[in-house]
Amino acid sequence: MNIKIKNILKKKNNGKIVSLTAYSKNIAKILDNYCDIILVGDSMANVLYGFDDTHKINLETIIKHTISVKKGVKKSLLVVDMPKGTYSNIKKAKKNAKLIMKLTKCDAVKLESNSKNFKIIRELVNSKIPVMGHIGYTPQFKKKFRIEGTSVSSAKKLLIEAKLIESAGAFSIVLECLTPKASALVTKNISIPTIGIGSSSHCDGQILVTDDMLGISGFYPKFVKKYASLNRTIEKAVKKYSRDVKKGNFPLKKNFLNGSKPR
Ligand code: KIV
Repeated sequence: MNIKIKNILKKKNNGKIVSLTAYSKNIAKILDNYCDIILVGDSMANVLYGFDDTHKINLETIIKHTISVKKGVKKSLLVVDMPKGTYSNIKKAKKNAKLIMKLTKCDAVKLESNSKNFKIIRELVNSKIPVMGHIGYTPQFKKKFRIEGTSVSSAKKLLIEAKLIESAGAFSIVLECLTPKASALVTKNISIPTIGIGSSSHCDGQILVTDDMLGISGFYPKFVKKYASLNRTIEKAVKKYSRDVKKGNFPLKKNFLNGSKPR
């Protein structure tokens, strides 16, 4: 087993797993020092490409961004979201997951659950492709946002789904927007780590979309903590640059190239 995955498994009941998303090398390089897991999420559809859902991102785009991210990652476990429609049957899932692994040299793929596709997870794991599951609010399959596990029966259903994913061989599961009670029920009753987003502190780890926590996406629901307001920092810098160019304060002589090296 991949040593990075072994280390993630060891963190069940033993510390917290830190995860964030990345879509490019420069961001990944910064995250790598502090994260256990870096996810190339299909959230890039909304966050980067401005689509209104995650469905419009294709395999080629996810692969291109992962090749960039991989260049910034040394120690974190690199997980890649399989886009909607790329794992709708076993044959397709195997072909596309193998392609992702081969072209990007990532460590694992993530599949959203539609409560039936745990058989696909089993086939991928049997083909030596490490898989992360994803239950709760799964934007690839659910049209409307909803908090998951609000009743005892729906929380129990989530646990059954998580157990099926666990027994299919997944090494961890993302819990998206589960109530604290449902997150605790799932986390306590499976042996693989749960990574929460909008799912309370009961999970074994947490993930956020990096652009949200840095304050550049404009999407700040209650479960996001904004650790910076980079939108303001970037705006200040761009404003200053614009002023400098207009006033002739940039470039200065020290920025001129006179036959010396550019760097
Ligand atoms: O695509 C993504 O960024 C995700 C996270 C929200 C877990 O799946």
